[in-house]
Amino acid sequence: MLQVTRPRTVHTIVELRDAVRDWRRAGDLVALTPTMGGLHEGHLSLVRAARRRAKRVVASIFVNPTQFGEGEDFTAYPRDEVRDTELLANAGCDLIYAPKVSEMYPEGFATTIGVDGITTNLCGAHRPGHFDGVTTVVCKLLNQAQPDYAIFGEKDWQQLITIRRMVRDLDMPIRIASSPTVREADGLAMSSRNRYLSPRERAVAAKLNKALFASADHIAHGAPLDRVLSACAKALVSAGFDDIDYLDARDARTLEPVTEFDPNVESRLFIAARLGKTRLIDNIPIERTGMTE
Ligand code: PAF
Repeated sequence: MLQVTRPRTVHTIVELRDAVRDWRRAGDLVALTPTMGGLHEGHLSLVRAARRRAKRVVASIFVNPTQFGEGEDFTAYPRDEVRDTELLANAGCDLIYAPKVSEMYPEGFATTIGVDGITTNLCGAHRPGHFDGVTTVVCKLLNQAQPDYAIFGEKDWQQLITIRRMVRDLDMPIRIASSPTVREADGLAMSSRNRYLSPRERAVAAKLNKALFASADHIAHGAPLDRVLSACAKALVSAGFDDIDYLDARDARTLEPVTEFDPNVESRLFIAARLGKTRLIDNIPIERTGMTE
């Protein structure tokens, strides 16, 4: 039978650094998977991707208050350390770093890391201050753990490319790797927030990815982009979504708007839609999938 070693959980920067220093002395590569807990298969795929790159894997669990806006779900955000530890043990994590808010933001904390440009549109336009909170906490986690690699999910594409920009701009000696979005059987992108959905909302939620894939395919086959997107938004509202924050085609690297399909430019469709008290996001490449062939 496969022996699963339970990862140790540490709560302080000193303990984290001690563990990482010992691994480095032994010549081991180290990968960090930052999370906010409420783990699902998407997070575990990040841990497995980390394992493929490095002998030692640290997962951080920290519900970061500075990336939640007023009226958002900071208090309600799922917290279950026992379940998360079990899942991380089975996925092959070596160490869990679960700092308290006072460890991350001690009295007098006054620094914000912000990335311009790519954070001003899409989620940045609807969640003021969100990306500053993300880049500040990720910068701190990277400085604290000093890993060789850090792994982020492609579901949060804007977050992923923002972190890449920050690491490049600040000359941080860390390789940022990404892992594809993990989906439920009906295609819904896995998210800790999916557990907020009622059974009725959960059925409606599945329509989001289907509409997105169909729209990307139509666009890639030459249908006019603006017409496809406005029809898609209307169809989602008719299907039961309360509001569409955005539904946009963007250059995958710069997040500049894309007005027509160009097979030579890597572009993606991005959506954020509200369903009851849940905000769902997703993004996919615009490419010919053969759906309408
Ligand atoms: O993607 C997340 O869960 C969070 O934004 C992250 C990267 C762990 C920072 O708090």
